[in-house]
Amino acid sequence: MEGNNKFLEESSDSGYTESSDTECTENLVDPSIPATIPKFVDELPIPKVLQPVSQGNDYDYYEVEMKPAKHKFHRDFGEALIYGYNGMYPGPTFETMKGHPVRVKWINNLPFKHFLPVDKTLEDAIDSPEVRTVVHLHGANVAPDSDGHPEAWFTRNFEYTGAKYCRRVYEYPNQQQATTLWYHDHAMGVTRLNLYAGLAGFYLIHDFNEQSLDLPKGKYDIPLMIQDKSFKPDGSLFYPENLTPRNPFVHPSVVRAFIGNTMVVNGKVWPYLNVEPRKYRFRMVNASNSNGFTFKLSNGQAFWQLGTDGGLISVSKPIEKFPLDPAERIDVIIDFSGLEGQIITLQTEELDLQGNPEIHKREVMQFRVGSKGGDTITLPQNLRRFDKLEESKAIKTRRIVMTQETDEFGRVKLTLNNLEFSDPATEFPEYDTIEIWEFANPVFNPNSPIGIPPNISHPIHLHLAQFQVLSRQQFNVTTFNANQWITNGTGIDFGTNPVLAPDPSEIGWKDTVRVEAGQVTRIIVHFKNYTGEYVWHCHILEHEDYEMMRPLIVIKKYVD
Ligand code: C2O
Ligand code: CU
Ligand code: CU
Repeated sequence: MEGNNKFLEESSDSGYTESSDTECTENLVDPSIPATIPKFVDELPIPKVLQPVSQGNDYDYYEVEMKPAKHKFHRDFGEALIYGYNGMYPGPTFETMKGHPVRVKWINNLPFKHFLPVDKTLEDAIDSPEVRTVVHLHGANVAPDSDGHPEAWFTRNFEYTGAKYCRRVYEYPNQQQATTLWYHDHAMGVTRLNLYAGLAGFYLIHDFNEQSLDLPKGKYDIPLMIQDKSFKPDGSLFYPENLTPRNPFVHPSVVRAFIGNTMVVNGKVWPYLNVEPRKYRFRMVNASNSNGFTFKLSNGQAFWQLGTDGGLISVSKPIEKFPLDPAERIDVIIDFSGLEGQIITLQTEELDLQGNPEIHKREVMQFRVGSKGGDTITLPQNLRRFDKLEESKAIKTRRIVMTQETDEFGRVKLTLNNLEFSDPATEFPEYDTIEIWEFANPVFNPNSPIGIPPNISHPIHLHLAQFQVLSRQQFNVTTFNANQWITNGTGIDFGTNPVLAPDPSEIGWKDTVRVEAGQVTRIIVHFKNYTGEYVWHCHILEHEDYEMMRPLIVIKKYVD
């Protein structure tokens, strides 16, 4: 009954004429209530390709302006305020070529005050304007001064700048293999809000190898930015506040995680896409703040995997489903041949907090297969050469624990080896050396399903380098001695738990890895191309903004 009253209130607010016919009120859309939102009524938008201001032999030059804009997330929603690159959400797509550098002047024309709740207790937030921005090209191999260090932020007109700010024009050398990168905001303490407000876009690198392969191109090569979001009744963005710190001075307060109640793809809630009965290439990024998803297709058909975060894999292969945590990407073919007239839904295996199937977020978007079109593509099996990094070549093993503390306001604070962002750096890999990093996530409840708190994974991301996932192994969290393990690798009991190979979908170059609950996750990484100061962090944005981030300083090799 309360629900009905709510609809009635909304109906007068939003200009609907009063009606005594109760059936009509049931059809009213309340963007804050997923069950009232019609699914698959908006066509999937495809972000425009950005044109350079000037082109040259040495580099192409672009300018991108961050500004507030109005955006309709759904046919039946009112207009919502967003922050967008060039006022667009997602931002415009960069199409670039390996070996041809790109320079971008990132311009902030946003207001000083944020429209989402800013927590002033977070790093850098206390005495600077609320809206600080800095752009990070996620997955890119770039020099430190163009990497978008969280403290290299700037405000409107570069009026205020962070401690590490040093340049207006960023340079992207594009020396890495063809891949799907994405650019997003990375400003200290407000990344979660800026990204949620719309500051994210695609950056594609092509190369000659990729172009020589018989793959769907042009309008058959589509990027999908997938995010969970929640809305207010008027269709504007809803971002929650943490109400647990019982301290009047902490208001607003950062939440432990953000879990939305709708699925948004390329800026539309539950869109559809008309497709031809042929092969399409989809580059997917999970750009959600906190939520990891496992994706599959409603007809049980397999995806055909082409790539991971860092680009093409060595041999393409079918995969029925795959997990994607925040910031992870996957490059897949979906073959709609022979499916004329059918509707295929991209689905997730999302659970609600009780561990039951979540009804609404189980559906992401719809593909409607038409009758015209087709292709003559024979998908290549061998995509590119892939060299496995050898464990025997690693000169160092680092061990890092996902730690939990309580802050002075009684809030949970997640850290790495009990260190905060501003604690002195501890990760100083030497230039051109190989290291193994082992991450232990000692929070595990055997009685809870995987994916439901406390059994959540932390997507750990390293700037600068693409790495390879080696293995995972379950350990006994109750007998775990974190300090011992960090110092000398003892104090851990794996029992008879097997060493698990990486998921089939993550065999390739990765820049973000799921550190699963109750497991040690091992990666191998070669630090090369640049020295200098970067960061590594958990890509759950609510964790990253609140201390689950550390410096990564690549130093010159010591030669005697
Ligand atoms: Cu996509 Cu440091 O982040
Ligand atoms: Cu990154
Ligand atoms: Cu985390």
